[in-house]
Amino acid sequence: MADLTTKYMGLELDSPLIVAASSISSYIDRIELAEKAGAGALVIRSLFEEQIMFDALQLELDLDVGSESFPEALSYFPEIQHGEADEHLMWIEKTRAAVKLPLIGSLNAITPGAWTKYARQLEATGIDALELNVYAVATNPDKTSIEIEKDLYEVVKAVKAEVTIPVAVKLSPFYTSPLNVARELSALGVNALVLFNRFLQPDIDPQTESLKSEMVFSTPQEMKVPLRHIALLYGRIDSDLAITTGVHSGLDAVKAILSGASAVQTASALLKNGIPYLSTMLREIEGWMDERGYEKLDDFRGKLSQREAEDPFAFERAQYVKLLMSQK
Ligand SMILES: Cc1cc2nc3c(=O)[nH]c(=O)nc-3n(C[C@H](O)[C@H](O)[C@H](O)COP(=O)(O)O)c2cc1C
Repeated sequence: MADLTTKYMGLELDSPLIVAASSISSYIDRIELAEKAGAGALVIRSLFEEQIMFDALQLELDLDVGSESFPEALSYFPEIQHGEADEHLMWIEKTRAAVKLPLIGSLNAITPGAWTKYARQLEATGIDALELNVYAVATNPDKTSIEIEKDLYEVVKAVKAEVTIPVAVKLSPFYTSPLNVARELSALGVNALVLFNRFLQPDIDPQTESLKSEMVFSTPQEMKVPLRHIALLYGRIDSDLAITTGVHSGLDAVKAILSGASAVQTASALLKNGIPYLSTMLREIEGWMDERGYEKLDDFRGKLSQREAEDPFAFERAQYVKLLMSQK
């Protein structure tokens, strides 16, 4: 039987599937279900610095969460109360006591002081690692890309100096050169990079002439951007790589590992299909490995990364031209 264990940011995980930061972590029973279904780890939803937290929660309350298409999903989006940082930290301590599953805390702050203060407080809850959720949208035309990146590096340096647990950075795809940013972060000692954060894009309702924010689950098509970037990074940096966005099946997870991922994060698929679906995904990975005689994940990890071929996705452009030309 296939061995699904993996090493991710220094943690030994029983499986490569990690429950991504989401509302799943707001319920002990769901976390226990994830542990039972074979999750390798779980990321607890982000601790947002207070103002952001209020905005984010308000946003969530206003969201249409796709409940018409997925009635079961409704229960995953309870009415959320405005929570203070202390409540969040106490919740993590309670979760820590309830499960053995490796827990990864997540933080999204604004001011440099808050990043370090909360990073320290999160570490004190007993989490195994910390994920920095860099959910910053570049909205100021006066700010250059160099300044934006410098701010990021300063935050990461400060947090790394503050905590002893492994630190991951969940990155945005919207950098001029995401590969360069990844390499810089790796050089700062970041233990893992999580590619890529999925941004909620506000929409405009022409009927009411107002803004609307709609939470729609991801689709498997969305995993192509992180997949390609993981393939391009694998073997070139020291940080481990995890994928997030668009992983909806065991075979999607296989694709991520073939590209070079050490771990595979998933949220939408579990919110849509229920937490036990995680074990279906694991069985699918095992089945695929058994068919090919792979005994462990390292037997095929990175097989389709740039390390194995000069540029495994170089054919993309040729295919692009071919596809365009073939359209009538
Ligand atoms: C309801 C919900 C809540 C989320 N909360 C957070 C969060 O607190 N912090 C974070 O970094 N990502 C958060 N995310 C993003 C997920 O962690 C994940 O990166 C994203 O949904 C893409 O993965 P998926 O395609 O598997 O859903 C949330 C996603 C959902 C659906």
